[in-house]
Amino acid sequence: MAGQIPPQFIDDLLTRVDITDVIDARVPLKKAGKNLQACCPFHNEKTPSFTVSSEKQFYHCFGCGAHGTAIGFLMEYDQMSFPEAIHELADSVGMTVPSSQSFVPNPAKLNLYELLDKVSQFYVHQLHSHPKRDEFNNYLKQRGLSPAIIEHFGIGMAPEGWDHVLKKFGNSQKAIEQLNEAGLLSSNDKGNTYDRFRSRVMFPIRDRRGRVIGFGGRVLDDSTPKYLNSPETPVFHKGHELYGLYQARKANRKLERLIIVEGYMDVIALAEKGISNAVATLGTATTPEHLRQLQRSAPEVIFCFDGDRAGREAAWRAAENALPLLGGNHQLKFMFLPDGEDPDTLVKQKGADAFNKLVTNAKNFSDFFFESLEKRVDIESMDGRARLIEIARPYLRHIPVGIYRDMFEQRLVERAQTSTAVLHKHVEKPSKSKKVINKMATISTGMSPIRMAITILLQHPDLHKSVGDFDKIATLSRPGIVILTELLETLHQQPHLNTAALLERAREADYADHLMKLAMQTLSLSAKELEHELVGAIEQLQQEAQNSRHEVLMAKGLSKLTKEEREEIQQLEIRMR
Ligand code: UTP
Ligand code: MN
Repeated sequence: MAGQIPPQFIDDLLTRVDITDVIDARVPLKKAGKNLQACCPFHNEKTPSFTVSSEKQFYHCFGCGAHGTAIGFLMEYDQMSFPEAIHELADSVGMTVPSSQSFVPNPAKLNLYELLDKVSQFYVHQLHSHPKRDEFNNYLKQRGLSPAIIEHFGIGMAPEGWDHVLKKFGNSQKAIEQLNEAGLLSSNDKGNTYDRFRSRVMFPIRDRRGRVIGFGGRVLDDSTPKYLNSPETPVFHKGHELYGLYQARKANRKLERLIIVEGYMDVIALAEKGISNAVATLGTATTPEHLRQLQRSAPEVIFCFDGDRAGREAAWRAAENALPLLGGNHQLKFMFLPDGEDPDTLVKQKGADAFNKLVTNAKNFSDFFFESLEKRVDIESMDGRARLIEIARPYLRHIPVGIYRDMFEQRLVERAQTSTAVLHKHVEKPSKSKKVINKMATISTGMSPIRMAITILLQHPDLHKSVGDFDKIATLSRPGIVILTELLETLHQQPHLNTAALLERAREADYADHLMKLAMQTLSLSAKELEHELVGAIEQLQQEAQNSRHEVLMAKGLSKLTKEEREEIQQLEIRMR
């Protein structure tokens, strides 16, 4: 939560502060068209791709994807906590933060970190003292782990039994609630609550700052699930975290490259052999958020996959996700292991050198990309080359505009034996006709009306004034409808909020990142067209909602309708005309 600082105060603050001043004082900015620019402070680069919009009051780097409001900038650049950043900004414009309590950063979360840390120590302690510890220690030894590495990664054991953690840490109702919030408990249909992790080797998962935020627990035998992980909690979000990143940063003063592998044990087995720059996603595909974090930590990122078909497919998915992060000063590569091996088995059988050799021979992103696509066509025939263009083109759009994209296109046309003129000739152009604008923009951006409306409202909050009725749209069950309704209502009550204030209000929501992305999308439409799009989208949704409500009521049969419902039908029919 935004702590105890009233959202109203943050809104006011963000209309008074000018992000360009805040950033310019730390990173000198130069004018570039409507925006201001600089070389990005969050990654190494020689040509500026860090952009600050004074209109939207936020920054965005096209190179590394860093983005945020003035508050976010201070948190990232000056390593401030959320309340510290608010305090700093308020000071700079002579405002006073309402409650002094607000300097305590979110006490609920702090308690969770503390609890998770204690539980982690408990698991470690069990590995040294529990009567059945031998079984666990033998397992770890048999997997080739030394006491030093076990300690380095904080590995522990959750003993057999239903309530070790519950008993030790849950001595009041409040404490039990906290254990639950930290993801340490499970419960059954009968409402009985017990330890989530039982009879498992415990791997604490740390955030970038080294705080324990969750656990992965492995069974000792072949039972399933092999790994049990903490659920999503206020401090643990799978799609953001990387196992081993803290340790990798700690072990290397300057990281030249990071290797993304699949499993906990891969990270640890590599570290055991002196390869201390591997990280793992937590059983999910690599998200753009993961990649952004990695690119901020090292100039080169290598995906490591199994050489089998599943591995190749996973690599392709990773490549798709990586497109928006290509270019700038970053290298992205792919390495493939021999069929059936994972990094753990490979270093154990063939040694660190064998692994390092594969690292050195990793494929460049573009090589992997073109090889994969060319496997799907017959590059020797004209038809195959035409198809290559067709299948490659949708991907190109996702690469940031810049040298890298130009060269990528160049390579595509060379492979297809054609010219960039031909490549660009057939890209859809927005239509001039007013009537089809609605459809066209939606098609060319690939956006649904809801997404479109959210994007426009975020970027041009003023336009909400043109929107007509939207009272029925909340009844539609469609992705994004809740966010859209909330935005409209917020703006209805506070018509002067700017983009930054809207984004800050969503900081703690699980869709915060999504909103940021929408706020950064380029909509190449004029102000009039944007207004038309927005109004059109809301009208369309309102219509749909009215129609379906009408259908529901009519389906009841006239005799069963109440007086109010009949009136509602009448109203609806008037509005639907
Ligand atoms: P793997 O099965 O490749 O893990 O799954 P591993 O690390 O190689 O396991 P062992 O110990 O050597 O057999 C890769 C990752 O997928 C997630 C975990 O994050 C694991 O590290 N996973 C796997 C789960 O979350 N649950 C499972 O049941 C299995
Ligand atoms: Mn393994």
